[in-house]
Amino acid sequence: MDEPLRHHGDAEVRAGMADFAVNVYDGPRPPWLDTALQAGLDAAGRYPSAATAEAALAARHGRAPGDVLATAGAAEAFWLVARLRAWSRPVVVHPQFTEPHAALEQAGHRVTEVVLPEPFVLDPGAVPDDADLVVIGNPTNPTGVLHPRATIEALLRDGRVVVVDEAFMDAVPGEPETLTAHRHPGLVVTRSLTKHWGIPGVRAGYLLAEPALVADLRTGQVPWSVSSSASAAMVACCSREAAAESDRRAEQIVAWRRELQESLSTMGIHHLPSQASFVLARVGEGVHGALRDAGVAVRRADTFPGLDATWVRIAVRPPARTRSLLDALSALSLDALG
Ligand SMILES: Cc1ncc(COP(=O)(O)O)c(C=O)c1O
Repeated sequence: MDEPLRHHGDAEVRAGMADFAVNVYDGPRPPWLDTALQAGLDAAGRYPSAATAEAALAARHGRAPGDVLATAGAAEAFWLVARLRAWSRPVVVHPQFTEPHAALEQAGHRVTEVVLPEPFVLDPGAVPDDADLVVIGNPTNPTGVLHPRATIEALLRDGRVVVVDEAFMDAVPGEPETLTAHRHPGLVVTRSLTKHWGIPGVRAGYLLAEPALVADLRTGQVPWSVSSSASAAMVACCSREAAAESDRRAEQIVAWRRELQESLSTMGIHHLPSQASFVLARVGEGVHGALRDAGVAVRRADTFPGLDATWVRIAVRPPARTRSLLDALSALSLDALG
């Protein structure tokens, strides 16, 4: 592994392995989403426009169309932010998804890391006053911590851009801490359709911000970067039917996660009280590799600043599927005992 910050869960899964490394919802795509994706493909003979998708997303979040920029996954948003300005003191709050940090470095910036200690709860006072950019995830990957909206709002100030990565917010029932409706000249909220709708290959995401900031970010975007299928998926996922299915999935993730966490507790494995579709567990050094040898992929955590090789991130799956992971973990502890 050359670049730890560019390492992601998908690199951990080989054919035939049980996948607990990639955090996408473990269930079939809704038929209406397949219909939309097909319609997007049918439109592939023309250059795409994301205008309709942006209007639908704006309506969904109670915002104006000028407040939305559709992106090729949330990942594109991080690259746009990295190239937006000559940041003097960009700060990334870790442990968190490392792509925003990598994008900033790629754009030539020196990143200041604010590394939160366990239990990884945001302390706004830990962010340097002179930070002109702050990036934070909510709920945070890989810790599963859901920061209160008010705590993140405390980071906002004149002359600073605060990026809140809400890629996993739709896994939180009711989304009580979302900042999508909050208006502030320096606030950028990024969202993703990848996880909740199980479409990493489509590359569908967006950001919400004040119109002036959206316009500046749009300037840096590669023309036509959002495909017709991604736009069609965005429109479809704004429907009432989608909202109901989204809520159902969020509740299901809570139930699946509870079962996983109860089993980990029974096995005496330390883990965090996650609010997302994954759980960060301290299984001990060497367990990641041993699980891998047993055909079970969990996400290594030592590539996240602030964590080490004793931690792994486990994707929440239906209990019947989770069994294979728990059985493999039990077999390892038996081996250790025997
Ligand atoms: C916290 C977080 N944000 C953003 C992304 C990027 O998502 P997308 O597929 O929308 O680019 C990921 C992907 O793993 C993620 O974990």
